[in-house]
Amino acid sequence: VTIAVRTLASPEDWEAAKAIRFEVFVDEQHVPADLELDDLDAMARHWLAWDGETAVGTARAVRKDFGWKIGRVAVRRDWRGRGVGQSLMRAIMDAARRAGVRELQLESQTHALAFYERLGFVAEGPEFDDAGIPHRLMRLALAA
Ligand SMILES: CC(C)(COP(=O)(O)OP(=O)(O)OC[C@H]1O[C@@H](n2cnc3c(N)ncnc32)[C@H](O)[C@@H]1OP(=O)(O)O)[C@@H](O)C(=O)NCCC(=O)NCCS
Repeated sequence: VTIAVRTLASPEDWEAAKAIRFEVFVDEQHVPADLELDDLDAMARHWLAWDGETAVGTARAVRKDFGWKIGRVAVRRDWRGRGVGQSLMRAIMDAARRAGVRELQLESQTHALAFYERLGFVAEGPEFDDAGIPHRLMRLALAA
């Protein structure tokens, strides 16, 4: 599939991003619905991955002192394993480089460590629990 990744361009796009997050994190991974959306959503930059007219993946980035913190990375089940997640992450990494961001961090669900390692992220520190799911901090330094 040819995947296009874009930042949100309309209120409908935000609805599509939320729908993917609820499908993946709440329905599939049983994250409590009241934890899924948070105050950071209003300050974050959000991306959608598109297969034609269908929104199939999403992620967000929040500005921090160190650079950007990436989160809520989700690809709809039927589109997994086809490079959608990698495309989404590469688009965010490119946007970060263009913005002069020096470091990216994220909290990876332990099962997804290898997915982010392939992109150059390195896990650091102990495993911790968030919303009942084990996670580890991961970091990637971007070239200046
Ligand atoms: C993790 C996730 C975003 C990956 O998206 P995806 O579109 O399936 O990933 P890709 O197809 O780009 O995968 C790229 C590579 O990472 C690997 N990979 C994907 N998901 C993985 C996982 N959960 N664990 C280990 N490796 C994984 C794939 O094997 C693939 O390698 P390959 O090309 O050699 O087969 C997706 O599985 C997902 O949404 N999962 C549920 C939500 C979630 O756990 N999000 C992570 C929050 S930290």
